Amino acid sequence: MKYQNEINRRKTFAIISHPDAGKTTLTEKLLLFGGAIQVAGAVKSNKIKKGATSDFMEIERQRGISVATSVMTFEYKDLLINLLDTPGHKDFAEDTYRTLTAVDSVILVIDSVNGVEEQTRRLMEVCRMRDTPVIVFVNKMDRDGKFPFDLIDEIEKELNISLHPLTWPINMGREFKGVYNLYEKSLNLFTPSQKATDENSVAINDINDALLDQKVGAKDAAQLREDVELLDGVYGELDSEAYMKGEVAPVFFGSAVNNFGIREMLDTFVRIAPNPLCRATDVREVCPGEPKFSGFIFKIHANLDPRHRDRIAFLRVCSGRLERNKSYKHIRLDKDMKFSNPYTFLARSKEVVDDAYPGDVVGLFDTGNFKIGDTLTEGEKMMFTGMPSFSPELFREVVNKDPMKTKQLEKGLRQLTDEGVAQLFTQHGGNRKIIGCVGDLQFEVIQYRLLQEYGASVDFVPLSFYKACWITGEKKKIDEFTRFKQANIMEDKDGNLVYLAQSEWFLNTERQNNPDIEFHFTSDYKH
Ligand code: G4P
Repeated sequence: MKYQNEINRRKTFAIISHPDAGKTTLTEKLLLFGGAIQVAGAVKSNKIKKGATSDFMEIERQRGISVATSVMTFEYKDLLINLLDTPGHKDFAEDTYRTLTAVDSVILVIDSVNGVEEQTRRLMEVCRMRDTPVIVFVNKMDRDGKFPFDLIDEIEKELNISLHPLTWPINMGREFKGVYNLYEKSLNLFTPSQKATDENSVAINDINDALLDQKVGAKDAAQLREDVELLDGVYGELDSEAYMKGEVAPVFFGSAVNNFGIREMLDTFVRIAPNPLCRATDVREVCPGEPKFSGFIFKIHANLDPRHRDRIAFLRVCSGRLERNKSYKHIRLDKDMKFSNPYTFLARSKEVVDDAYPGDVVGLFDTGNFKIGDTLTEGEKMMFTGMPSFSPELFREVVNKDPMKTKQLEKGLRQLTDEGVAQLFTQHGGNRKIIGCVGDLQFEVIQYRLLQEYGASVDFVPLSFYKACWITGEKKKIDEFTRFKQANIMEDKDGNLVYLAQSEWFLNTERQNNPDIEFHFTSDYKH
């Protein structure tokens, strides 16, 4: 019973947004609600990595971004909430995609001034691939942004999801008066810089109550009545099943920096967001209530202390209980492993734990055994799926500047790509090595770390490829194609064949010329 209670207490989610929409600010305010941090600014300083000790961190510090995906745990209304942070910088988008495989729902932050932006679109595509339930928080209502109805329209069209407003703003910018809570039928009046516990809420059971005019003025009251009538007519009750299927997203309006409109969202989140969900493996679906432990690695973080080469693998518990010092099977390596110091994260501090439950994320010390997507179980042979590599967008050939360090280079490339820092492609039947990334910054990180951690000095030669496509089909056809297109055929780390297309035109031409071959943009085509 205790075990089931532990599962029912947990909600694991991530906040996603285009950079600068307010993800860090919202994260901090949510942690304040949960009492996990006392000081405003704690998350921010995490982002800038003040006082970082290693040189590697210098890269992050200089650019003011966090390469790390950290995990924050806080309690709210007797629930244990795991918030998985995602790097905001687009060059580390793959990290974010992988983190999304480890959560059960997301909160999407939209800047009311900028609306839907490039990163928002891409991240939502990944959520849609997995039907992840989404709650939308429209931020920065204290600024003159887009009109709410226009914004709703834009989000629905651009992100291909139906929205369902649960709060509604009264004006915006300097005239922002607050939000009307459509399901609680109460008014939350805006005062800048609220504390997490501040409440300035007034029950307005009847929207025609003159109290509304008193509180927000006759003009805004009239506008709100008009809006609410329209909203009631269109939306009605929230369909929570449709939310769970990722078809409908509840929407809240507020201002993260002013700690406004967040409580409404958090209260709904704890009410409707899913507890740990079942997950697919290559053999069967695994559900959290099962007694035997299983979990998978979705993120590997290099140790930032250059004197210690070990790494931290982030494991999401999917079923059963992970116990300290108990032996588990590493399925890919067919190897038994024990963990003497698994730890969880309470805001920024780490704590060694004796056990962890479905929905939890634990950090495991790793000396090079783990790859992204690795599965641990009590013995059952299965691998969690849905951990795709996406086609990179930038390609560069690795040039070894120091032939004496070839071995170190190979090892470094293997380990860094195991961590998921970038993708490595090796020429089919040859030795050329090509690194594929999402952003320029990743190449800098790789170059820097190869030198610092492995003593290998490299240069990169830019290549003008458009996409990497995993190819499948009948062996004879594939053999023919690879012979014909030899210069463009690579192998990914697992030996799967990949075609590097020079341009969209080339890719389309090859598709037409080779109808028996399938070209896939993600490596997850097998499932
Ligand atoms: P990110 O993690 O999504 O990149 O965004 P972040 O929270 O860092 O917020 C980006 C900027 O937007 C910050 O300003 C932040 O203070 C501001 N911001 C967040 N929420 C609101 C809001 O509700 N209203 C307004 N007006 N601004 C908001 P900055 O100048 O970049 O940083 P800082 O100097 O304020 O820390």
